[in-house]
Parts: sequence; C-alpha cells; structure tokens
Amino acid sequence: MPYTFKRSQELFTRAQQSIAGGVNSGIRKLEQPVPLYFTHGDGPRCWDADGNVYLDYQLGQGALLYGHAPAGLADAIAAQAKLGLHWAAQSELECEVAERLQSMVPSVELVRFNNCATEAVMAAFRLARATTGRPLVLRFEGHYHGWGDEGLVGFANPPATWTDDDELPRTHPSQGIIPEVADHFVVARWNDPDHLRRCVDRHRGQIAAIIFEPALCNTCCIEPGEGLMATIRELCDRDGMLMISDETITGFRFGASCAQGYYGFKPDLTIFGKAIGGGTPFAAIGGTKAAMAKIISGESIHAGTLNANPLCLAASKWCLDQVIARGNTLPASTNALGRRLMAGLVSLAATHGIPLQPQGPGLAFHTVMLKPGAAIGPVRDYRDYVTRHDAPRWAHLRRCLLEEGVRAIERGLWSISLTHGDLEIDETLDRATKAFARHAAEWKPAA
Ligand SMILES: Cc1ncc(COP(=O)(O)O)c(C=O)c1O
Repeated sequence: MPYTFKRSQELFTRAQQSIAGGVNSGIRKLEQPVPLYFTHGDGPRCWDADGNVYLDYQLGQGALLYGHAPAGLADAIAAQAKLGLHWAAQSELECEVAERLQSMVPSVELVRFNNCATEAVMAAFRLARATTGRPLVLRFEGHYHGWGDEGLVGFANPPATWTDDDELPRTHPSQGIIPEVADHFVVARWNDPDHLRRCVDRHRGQIAAIIFEPALCNTCCIEPGEGLMATIRELCDRDGMLMISDETITGFRFGASCAQGYYGFKPDLTIFGKAIGGGTPFAAIGGTKAAMAKIISGESIHAGTLNANPLCLAASKWCLDQVIARGNTLPASTNALGRRLMAGLVSLAATHGIPLQPQGPGLAFHTVMLKPGAAIGPVRDYRDYVTRHDAPRWAHLRRCLLEEGVRAIERGLWSISLTHGDLEIDETLDRATKAFARHAAEWKPAA
C-alpha cells in the first residue's frame, strides 16, 4: 500500500500556529503532499512520524554524505559536548580541521570557518571586492549561492524576462532586498565560453570575481563542458579576478580534492558547506594565501560568534577522516552506484513510456522529465532546463516515489551517500517499479 502521512499532516497543522508558514526554510514547503516530519535515520534510511521508512537520496539536502546518524559521528559530537559546547575562542580542533582541508584540497592554503555556506559566500564576495578594489561579481544563470541578497541575483530569471540581449537579466526572487544589489552582478550563461568572454570584456576592469558551482547541482546537475574551467581560469588570470568555486554541494562528494580535483582546476577561493559538517551547521571559506590576505590583515571583516564551534569541528574532523580513509575509491564507488540507479530508472521509464532522462556523473544526478515534444539529449544550461523540463509531471512521479519509500530532492536531484550499496540500489529500483507503474496509470497533464 502506498504510504500515508496522517501524523505529518497533524504536525504541520500544529506547526503553522507557532512557526511562520509551518517550516523553517522556505523550500521545505515544496514537499508534497505535506512537509514531512522525521523521527530518526540509520545510514541510507530514514523514518517519518507516520513510521514510513525511506531509501533516502535527499540526504539533508546533500549534507549527509556519511548517511543518517553514523555512530562514530554521534560519539565524536557527544565526547565534545561533555567537554564544552562553545568557547568563542580557539581550540586545537580548529587547527586539526584546517590542516585536513589543506592536505585534501591543494588550492586551500588557508581557511576560515563559518556556520553556513551563505555566510561563507558573503565573505568571499566581500574579500574579492576588497582584494581587487572592483565592484562587480560575475555569476552564472541557474547557479545558487545561498539565500543572501547577493547569492540569489540572476539565479532563476523567469522566462518572461528572457530577451536576445547579450546582457542577461539580474532578477531577484525575493522582495525586501537592497535595490542596488543587482547592479553589482553580471550574469553569464553556463557552458557558453563565448558568452562568458563577451560578458567579461564588456565589464573589463570592473569585475572582482567569477563564482560558479563546478557541477551545476542546483539546476539539473549540469557538468562543466570541455574547457570551461580553463576558460574561467584564463580570464581570471588575464584580468586579475578571483576564481571562486562554490563547492557547497560538490565538496567531498566528488572526493577528497572536491570537484576542483575531479575536473582538474585550481580556484583562488573555495566555499565549503553541507558535507564538511555531516549535518552540523558548519561551513568554510578556503583559498590561497594571496586571496586570503585581506582577511589576515582584517581589512575585509570576517566574524561570527559561533564560528569554529567545537561541536561542529569535532563533527567535521570525523567526516573528513571518512573521506580521507576512502582515498582513491571515492568518487568512483558512489559514481558506479549512482549510474546503476540511473540505468534502472531509465529502464523503468522505458517500460512505461515515461520521458524521464537522468543526467549527472552518478554520485549526484538529476531526473529531467521531458515536456511533450521536447528534444531528447543532455540539458546544457538553465534556460534549456526550464524550457524542456516538465516540472508538474516530475512532481507527480516524485510523489509516487515518496509514497513507495524513495525520497529524492523535491526539484529532482538525487545524491548517493557512503552508506548506500548495491542492496539499497536494488531495493530502490524494486520500490520504484511500483511508483513508475502508478505514475503511468495516474498521470494526466493539465488540460
Ligand atoms: C552551491 C550552494 N552554495 C551555497 C549554498 C548555501 O548554503 P547554506 O544553506 O548552508 O547557507 C547552497 C545551499 O544549498 C548551495 O547549494
């Protein structure tokens, strides 16, 4: 029988009396049929308040690379909690975590810790402007860099704003932002080196930094095309701009040296979030000594009461050791599992005539649902995705999957944890068989 969500419904009704909108992060409202309430997890599985168990590919929006509730991580946090929760001062642990990052990621000569990646991005933009004395940041359409005023400019330009103008819109999805913030961004198309060059040339001498998700996990898991990273590096070197790799999702999921090792490039600054803390509120900005100089001097202010919190540091040390211990087996092992799952989903889709097209390296991938008549083939950028992806139909299939115990991120991203194995992939495909059959039988496009 498909799952039901009575207890989650009750809790959501109750929450709306005390929590604004009933959730603590806006996107959590996207979960259909109701935002779920969870009680516990174990490795690749988690349980909701109705007792439903899920094979989890949402994984705390990607933070739980090590699965749910790893015993070693709980022990590390508990041991630290008994010693002290917070010093707002220094501890040896912060050197231990910083030294691990240095040894894992060659571009990281120095780090500073934060509580979430939104803050680390904020620090990177400020640092880039302080270092170069220039006002603009170049970013790519469809790339997400946190929920701050600056992180969201041009992230999701609505189709109504698309024109032939080579200068892309700089819309912001939120009300209440500082109006001038958009004036400080240049938006380029992902995977279009010629457009990127034109944008840089048009604003030459005014751009402080180029920021990007090395694999565009927030929009359709679009990997960088051949030569794109080299073009960004070349332009940054040519014009004295800082290259900022936002590895909030890709960090450690793509192996110890992150996506920059996987794709072979060297940024000036890197943003770490999610898997660096394994589910604790932890993030970092790392970079070359030259790029971090204005933080060292204090001319670019970086601060935070809870920065380098010992609970998060203890967690991070344990997490990074898991990645280090896997050495070269990561990310090949998670890529292989993800590819098996992608192939299984493709085969189920073919059986039922569902136009589902997974794309991504495997360790993370996105399930694109093609609109009727949309061209088949890899999605290349944000506009291509919005044009071809049938969001309502994906939402229906996602709900069928959820009701059969398979949980992907609402917008269609799947991540593999270090606790998933062949057995879990088999079980997922078994459960998905029922979900795909139900979707095929029930799906009716809006008239
Ligand atoms: C690429 C990227 N950058 C930054 C952020 C912001 O991270 P946080 O939610 O920890 O502030 C996210 C969050 O999903 C992200 O995916």
